[in-house]
Amino acid sequence: MPPPTHTTTASAPGKLILFGEHAVVHGQPALAVPLSAVRVTVRAEPMPPGTGTLIHTPDLERSIRVSVEPDPIPDRLHTALAYPIQVARRALNVPLPDMMLIVNSTIPIASGLGSGAALAAALIRAFTDALDRPLSNDALNPLVYEVEKQHHGTPSGIDNTVIVYEKPVYFVRGQPPEPFTIARPFTLLVADTGNPSPTHIAVGDVRALYEAEPDRTGAIFREIGQIVEQARQIIESGAAESGTTGSSTIESPGPLIGSLMDANHALLRDLTVSSPALNALCAAARNAGAWGAKLSGGGRGGNLIALVPPDRAEHISRALRTAGAVGVIETTVT
Ligand code: PMV
Repeated sequence: MPPPTHTTTASAPGKLILFGEHAVVHGQPALAVPLSAVRVTVRAEPMPPGTGTLIHTPDLERSIRVSVEPDPIPDRLHTALAYPIQVARRALNVPLPDMMLIVNSTIPIASGLGSGAALAAALIRAFTDALDRPLSNDALNPLVYEVEKQHHGTPSGIDNTVIVYEKPVYFVRGQPPEPFTIARPFTLLVADTGNPSPTHIAVGDVRALYEAEPDRTGAIFREIGQIVEQARQIIESGAAESGTTGSSTIESPGPLIGSLMDANHALLRDLTVSSPALNALCAAARNAGAWGAKLSGGGRGGNLIALVPPDRAEHISRALRTAGAVGVIETTVT
Protein backbone atom coordinates (compact mmCIF):
# COMPACT_ATOMS: atom_id res chain seq x y z
CA MET A 1 0.00 0.00 0.00
CA PRO A 2 1.52 3.38 -0.99
CA PRO A 3 1.92 5.88 1.86
CA PRO A 4 -0.57 8.78 1.91
CA THR A 5 0.52 11.69 -0.27
CA HIS A 6 -2.09 14.28 0.54
CA THR A 7 -3.84 15.86 3.51
CA THR A 8 -7.38 14.73 4.30
CA THR A 9 -9.86 15.89 6.93
CA ALA A 10 -12.72 13.98 8.52
CA SER A 11 -15.10 14.67 11.36
CA ALA A 12 -17.89 13.28 13.51
CA PRO A 13 -20.55 15.00 15.63
CA GLY A 14 -21.52 14.71 19.26
CA LYS A 15 -24.82 13.14 20.22
CA LEU A 16 -27.71 13.62 22.61
CA ILE A 17 -29.74 10.84 24.09
CA LEU A 18 -33.28 12.25 24.21
CA PHE A 19 -34.80 9.34 26.12
CA GLY A 20 -33.79 5.91 27.37
CA GLU A 21 -30.13 6.00 28.46
CA HIS A 22 -29.03 3.24 30.84
CA ALA A 23 -32.24 1.21 30.29
CA VAL A 24 -30.99 0.80 26.69
CA VAL A 25 -28.03 -1.22 28.01
CA HIS A 26 -30.61 -3.69 29.40
CA GLY A 27 -32.67 -4.16 26.25
CA GLN A 28 -35.08 -1.21 26.33
CA PRO A 29 -35.37 1.21 23.37
CA ALA A 30 -33.80 4.69 23.35
CA LEU A 31 -33.98 7.78 21.15
CA ALA A 32 -30.87 9.74 20.20
CA VAL A 33 -30.03 12.57 17.83
CA PRO A 34 -26.72 13.88 16.50
CA LEU A 35 -25.44 17.14 17.99
CA SER A 36 -23.69 18.76 15.06
CA ALA A 37 -22.85 21.96 16.97
CA VAL A 38 -19.94 20.12 18.58
CA ARG A 39 -17.56 17.89 16.61
CA VAL A 40 -14.28 16.05 16.56
CA THR A 41 -12.21 16.94 13.49
CA VAL A 42 -9.11 14.99 12.46
CA ARG A 43 -6.60 16.09 9.82
CA ALA A 44 -4.33 13.41 8.37
CA GLU A 45 -0.99 14.58 6.97
CA PRO A 46 1.69 12.54 5.19
CA MET A 47 5.00 12.24 7.08
CA PRO A 48 8.58 11.37 5.99
CA PRO A 49 9.40 7.65 5.67
CA GLY A 50 10.18 5.96 9.00
CA THR A 51 8.12 8.38 11.11
CA GLY A 52 5.36 5.89 11.84
CA THR A 53 1.81 6.86 12.79
CA LEU A 54 1.59 9.76 15.22
CA ILE A 55 -1.47 11.37 16.82
CA HIS A 56 -1.32 14.92 18.11
CA THR A 57 -4.01 16.72 20.15
CA PRO A 58 -3.12 20.44 20.33
CA ASP A 59 -5.85 21.13 22.95
CA LEU A 60 -4.60 18.49 25.36
CA GLU A 61 -0.94 19.05 24.38
CA ARG A 62 -0.52 15.32 23.91
CA SER A 63 1.38 13.46 21.17
CA ILE A 64 1.51 9.70 20.94
CA ARG A 65 2.99 7.11 18.61
CA VAL A 66 0.62 4.33 17.61
CA SER A 67 1.92 0.79 17.97
CA VAL A 68 0.62 -2.19 16.03
CA GLU A 69 -1.04 -3.81 19.05
CA PRO A 70 -2.63 -2.13 22.10
CA ASP A 71 0.04 -1.05 24.59
CA PRO A 72 0.26 -3.29 27.67
CA ILE A 73 -0.06 -0.51 30.28
CA PRO A 74 -2.06 2.17 28.53
CA ASP A 75 -3.52 5.27 30.14
CA ARG A 76 -7.08 6.11 29.14
CA LEU A 77 -6.26 9.02 26.83
CA HIS A 78 -3.50 7.08 25.07
CA THR A 79 -5.91 4.21 24.49
CA ALA A 80 -8.72 6.53 23.35
CA LEU A 81 -6.37 7.93 20.69
CA ALA A 82 -4.45 4.82 19.63
CA TYR A 83 -7.05 2.06 19.80
CA PRO A 84 -9.27 3.35 16.95
CA ILE A 85 -6.25 3.32 14.64
CA GLN A 86 -5.22 -0.16 15.78
CA VAL A 87 -8.76 -1.39 15.05
CA ALA A 88 -8.83 0.32 11.63
CA ARG A 89 -5.37 -0.95 10.67
CA ARG A 90 -6.40 -4.49 11.50
CA ALA A 91 -9.67 -4.14 9.56
CA LEU A 92 -7.83 -2.89 6.46
CA ASN A 93 -5.01 -5.38 7.02
CA VAL A 94 -2.28 -2.79 6.34
CA PRO A 95 0.98 -1.86 8.10
CA LEU A 96 0.99 1.41 10.04
CA PRO A 97 1.74 4.19 7.53
CA ASP A 98 3.90 7.29 8.00
CA MET A 99 1.16 9.70 8.95
CA MET A 100 0.32 12.41 11.45
CA LEU A 101 -3.27 12.65 12.69
CA ILE A 102 -4.10 16.01 14.28
CA VAL A 103 -7.18 15.94 16.51
CA ASN A 104 -9.33 18.93 17.41
CA SER A 105 -12.51 18.54 19.41
CA THR A 106 -15.21 20.82 20.74
CA ILE A 107 -17.00 17.93 22.50
CA PRO A 108 -16.43 17.98 26.26
CA ILE A 109 -14.92 14.70 27.49
CA ALA A 110 -16.91 12.33 29.75
CA SER A 111 -19.96 14.58 29.66
CA GLY A 112 -22.61 12.42 28.03
CA LEU A 113 -22.18 13.85 24.55
CA GLY A 114 -20.44 10.87 22.98
CA SER A 115 -16.90 12.26 22.85
CA GLY A 116 -15.31 8.79 22.80
CA ALA A 117 -17.38 7.46 19.91
CA ALA A 118 -16.96 10.71 17.95
CA LEU A 119 -13.19 10.61 18.46
CA ALA A 120 -13.05 7.02 17.23
CA ALA A 121 -15.29 7.72 14.22
CA ALA A 122 -13.33 10.81 13.13
CA LEU A 123 -9.93 9.13 13.63
CA ILE A 124 -10.90 6.02 11.65
CA ARG A 125 -12.46 8.12 8.89
CA ALA A 126 -9.36 10.32 8.56
CA PHE A 127 -7.02 7.31 8.63
CA THR A 128 -8.92 5.24 6.06
CA ASP A 129 -9.60 8.24 3.78
CA ALA A 130 -5.88 9.13 3.83
CA LEU A 131 -5.07 5.59 2.70
CA ASP A 132 -7.65 5.90 -0.09
CA ARG A 133 -9.67 3.13 1.55
CA PRO A 134 -12.72 5.12 2.70
CA LEU A 135 -15.28 3.12 4.68
CA SER A 136 -19.03 3.21 4.25
CA ASN A 137 -20.96 4.09 7.41
CA ASP A 138 -22.11 0.45 7.56
CA ALA A 139 -18.46 -0.66 7.62
CA LEU A 140 -17.36 2.07 10.05
CA ASN A 141 -20.10 1.51 12.64
CA PRO A 142 -18.92 -1.92 13.93
CA LEU A 143 -15.34 -0.64 14.20
CA VAL A 144 -16.42 2.29 16.38
CA TYR A 145 -18.52 -0.15 18.43
CA GLU A 146 -15.41 -2.26 18.99
CA VAL A 147 -13.63 0.84 20.33
CA GLU A 148 -16.63 1.62 22.57
CA LYS A 149 -16.35 -1.86 24.06
CA GLN A 150 -12.77 -1.11 25.05
CA HIS A 151 -13.94 2.05 26.89
CA HIS A 152 -17.23 0.87 28.43
CA GLY A 153 -17.20 -2.91 28.59
CA THR A 154 -20.91 -3.26 27.79
CA PRO A 155 -21.99 -0.36 25.56
CA SER A 156 -25.46 -0.60 24.07
CA GLY A 157 -24.18 0.59 20.68
CA ILE A 158 -26.39 3.69 20.58
CA ASP A 159 -23.51 6.21 20.69
CA ASN A 160 -21.58 4.79 17.73
CA THR A 161 -24.79 4.37 15.70
CA VAL A 162 -26.12 7.91 16.02
CA ILE A 163 -22.66 9.43 15.62
CA VAL A 164 -21.60 7.41 12.56
CA TYR A 165 -24.88 7.85 10.65
CA GLU A 166 -25.48 11.40 11.96
CA LYS A 167 -29.25 10.84 11.91
CA PRO A 168 -31.94 10.58 14.62
CA VAL A 169 -32.20 6.96 15.69
CA TYR A 170 -34.62 4.71 17.58
CA PHE A 171 -32.30 2.10 18.96
CA VAL A 172 -32.72 -1.30 20.57
CA ARG A 173 -29.56 -3.16 21.49
CA GLY A 174 -28.76 -5.96 19.05
CA GLN A 175 -31.34 -4.85 16.47
CA PRO A 176 -30.76 -2.85 13.29
CA PRO A 177 -31.14 0.86 14.17
CA GLU A 178 -34.38 2.46 12.96
CA PRO A 179 -34.20 6.04 11.72
CA PHE A 180 -37.00 8.18 13.11
CA THR A 181 -38.40 11.42 11.80
CA ILE A 182 -38.89 14.67 13.67
CA ALA A 183 -42.28 15.96 12.50
CA ARG A 184 -41.80 19.40 14.08
CA PRO A 185 -38.36 20.82 14.89
CA PHE A 186 -37.84 21.55 18.59
CA THR A 187 -35.38 23.60 20.59
CA LEU A 188 -33.13 22.09 23.24
CA LEU A 189 -30.67 23.69 25.61
CA VAL A 190 -27.71 21.49 26.44
CA ALA A 191 -26.28 22.56 29.80
CA ASP A 192 -22.96 21.36 31.17
CA THR A 193 -22.59 20.79 34.93
CA GLY A 194 -18.82 21.07 34.46
CA ASN A 195 -18.38 17.76 36.30
CA PRO A 196 -16.95 15.10 34.00
CA SER A 197 -18.11 11.60 34.92
CA PRO A 198 -16.94 8.42 33.21
CA THR A 199 -19.88 6.50 31.75
CA HIS A 200 -18.50 3.03 32.51
CA ILE A 201 -18.72 3.64 36.28
CA ALA A 202 -22.38 4.72 36.14
CA VAL A 203 -23.18 1.80 33.80
CA GLY A 204 -21.42 -0.62 36.20
CA ASP A 205 -23.33 0.77 39.20
CA VAL A 206 -26.68 0.38 37.41
CA ARG A 207 -25.77 -3.22 36.59
CA ALA A 208 -24.92 -3.83 40.27
CA LEU A 209 -28.26 -2.28 41.29
CA TYR A 210 -30.07 -4.56 38.83
CA GLU A 211 -28.29 -7.61 40.26
CA ALA A 212 -29.07 -6.58 43.85
CA GLU A 213 -32.71 -5.57 43.22
CA PRO A 214 -33.80 -7.17 39.94
CA ASP A 215 -37.57 -6.67 40.36
CA ARG A 216 -37.49 -2.97 41.27
CA THR A 217 -34.73 -2.10 38.80
CA GLY A 218 -36.29 -4.15 35.99
CA ALA A 219 -39.57 -2.28 36.54
CA ILE A 220 -37.73 1.05 36.23
CA PHE A 221 -36.14 -0.09 32.97
CA ARG A 222 -39.56 -1.06 31.59
CA GLU A 223 -41.11 2.27 32.64
CA ILE A 224 -38.29 4.09 30.84
CA GLY A 225 -38.96 1.91 27.78
CA GLN A 226 -42.64 2.96 27.81
CA ILE A 227 -41.64 6.63 28.02
CA VAL A 228 -39.40 6.13 24.98
CA GLU A 229 -42.28 4.62 22.97
CA GLN A 230 -44.62 7.49 23.92
CA ALA A 231 -41.99 10.10 23.10
CA ARG A 232 -41.28 8.52 19.73
CA GLN A 233 -44.96 8.54 18.85
CA ILE A 234 -45.33 12.22 19.76
CA ILE A 235 -42.10 13.35 18.08
CA GLU A 236 -42.89 11.41 14.89
CA SER A 237 -46.47 12.62 14.64
CA GLY A 238 -45.79 16.16 15.86
CA ALA A 239 -49.15 16.06 17.62
CA ALA A 240 -49.82 16.96 21.22
CA GLU A 241 -52.24 14.06 21.69
CA SER A 242 -51.77 10.64 20.20
CA GLY A 243 -54.55 9.98 17.74
CA THR A 244 -55.49 13.66 17.33
CA THR A 245 -57.19 13.96 13.95
CA GLY A 246 -59.49 16.33 12.22
CA SER A 247 -58.43 19.29 14.36
CA SER A 248 -57.49 22.47 12.55
CA THR A 249 -55.25 23.78 15.36
CA ILE A 250 -52.54 21.36 16.39
CA GLU A 251 -51.17 22.26 19.78
CA SER A 252 -47.45 22.27 20.41
CA PRO A 253 -46.31 18.85 21.63
CA GLY A 254 -43.66 20.63 23.76
CA PRO A 255 -45.44 20.37 27.14
CA LEU A 256 -46.15 16.68 26.60
CA ILE A 257 -42.60 15.82 25.53
CA GLY A 258 -41.32 17.95 28.41
CA SER A 259 -43.35 16.04 30.98
CA LEU A 260 -41.98 12.76 29.57
CA MET A 261 -38.46 14.19 30.00
CA ASP A 262 -39.23 15.02 33.64
CA ALA A 263 -40.57 11.50 34.20
CA ASN A 264 -37.49 9.97 32.54
CA HIS A 265 -35.22 12.10 34.73
CA ALA A 266 -37.03 10.97 37.90
CA LEU A 267 -36.49 7.33 36.90
CA LEU A 268 -32.79 7.99 36.18
CA ARG A 269 -32.58 9.45 39.70
CA ASP A 270 -34.02 6.19 41.01
CA LEU A 271 -31.27 4.39 39.09
CA THR A 272 -28.76 6.56 41.08
CA VAL A 273 -27.25 8.17 37.97
CA SER A 274 -28.30 11.75 38.61
CA SER A 275 -26.39 14.16 40.86
CA PRO A 276 -27.25 17.20 43.01
CA ALA A 277 -25.88 19.51 40.28
CA LEU A 278 -27.97 17.82 37.56
CA ASN A 279 -31.12 17.95 39.72
CA ALA A 280 -30.54 21.62 40.57
CA LEU A 281 -30.01 22.59 36.92
CA CYS A 282 -33.08 20.63 35.76
CA ALA A 283 -35.15 22.45 38.40
CA ALA A 284 -33.68 25.82 37.37
CA ALA A 285 -34.60 25.16 33.73
CA ARG A 286 -38.19 24.24 34.63
CA ASN A 287 -38.56 27.21 36.97
CA ALA A 288 -37.42 29.51 34.17
CA GLY A 289 -40.04 28.13 31.78
CA ALA A 290 -38.63 24.96 30.20
CA TRP A 291 -41.26 22.35 29.26
CA GLY A 292 -39.08 19.65 30.83
CA ALA A 293 -35.48 18.64 31.53
CA LYS A 294 -33.43 15.53 32.10
CA LEU A 295 -29.85 14.37 32.29
CA SER A 296 -28.51 13.05 28.97
CA GLY A 297 -25.95 10.25 28.60
CA GLY A 298 -24.16 8.47 31.40
CA GLY A 299 -25.15 10.98 34.11
CA ARG A 300 -23.63 11.59 37.58
CA GLY A 301 -22.38 14.83 36.00
CA GLY A 302 -21.95 15.84 32.37
CA ASN A 303 -24.85 17.41 30.53
CA LEU A 304 -28.59 17.81 30.81
CA ILE A 305 -31.06 18.72 28.12
CA ALA A 306 -33.99 21.10 28.55
CA LEU A 307 -36.86 21.36 26.07
CA VAL A 308 -37.75 25.02 25.74
CA PRO A 309 -40.20 27.27 23.91
CA PRO A 310 -37.93 28.91 21.29
CA ASP A 311 -38.85 32.44 22.40
CA ARG A 312 -37.81 31.59 26.00
CA ALA A 313 -34.49 29.96 25.10
CA GLU A 314 -32.30 32.94 25.90
CA HIS A 315 -33.97 33.60 29.25
CA ILE A 316 -33.75 29.92 30.28
CA SER A 317 -30.14 29.74 29.10
CA ARG A 318 -29.28 32.70 31.38
CA ALA A 319 -31.10 31.05 34.28
CA LEU A 320 -29.09 27.86 33.75
CA ARG A 321 -25.82 29.78 33.83
CA THR A 322 -26.89 31.63 36.96
CA ALA A 323 -27.69 28.25 38.55
CA GLY A 324 -24.13 27.05 37.82
CA ALA A 325 -24.03 25.63 34.29
CA VAL A 326 -20.51 26.15 32.90
CA GLY A 327 -21.73 26.11 29.31
CA VAL A 328 -25.07 26.11 27.53
CA ILE A 329 -25.57 25.19 23.87
CA GLU A 330 -28.83 25.94 22.07
CA THR A 331 -29.70 23.49 19.34
CA THR A 332 -32.68 22.88 17.09
CA VAL A 333 -33.48 19.21 16.56
CA THR A 334 -34.72 18.67 13.01
O1 PMV B 1 -22.25 9.05 28.51
P1 PMV B 1 -22.34 8.65 27.07
O2 PMV B 1 -22.35 9.79 26.14
O3 PMV B 1 -21.30 7.64 26.70
O4 PMV B 1 -23.78 7.91 26.91
C1 PMV B 1 -23.94 6.62 27.43
C2 PMV B 1 -25.33 6.07 27.26
C3 PMV B 1 -25.59 4.87 28.19
O5 PMV B 1 -26.93 4.43 27.91
C4 PMV B 1 -25.51 5.28 29.66
C5 PMV B 1 -24.61 3.74 27.97
C6 PMV B 1 -24.81 2.98 26.66
O6 PMV B 1 -23.88 2.25 26.29
O7 PMV B 1 -25.88 3.07 26.04
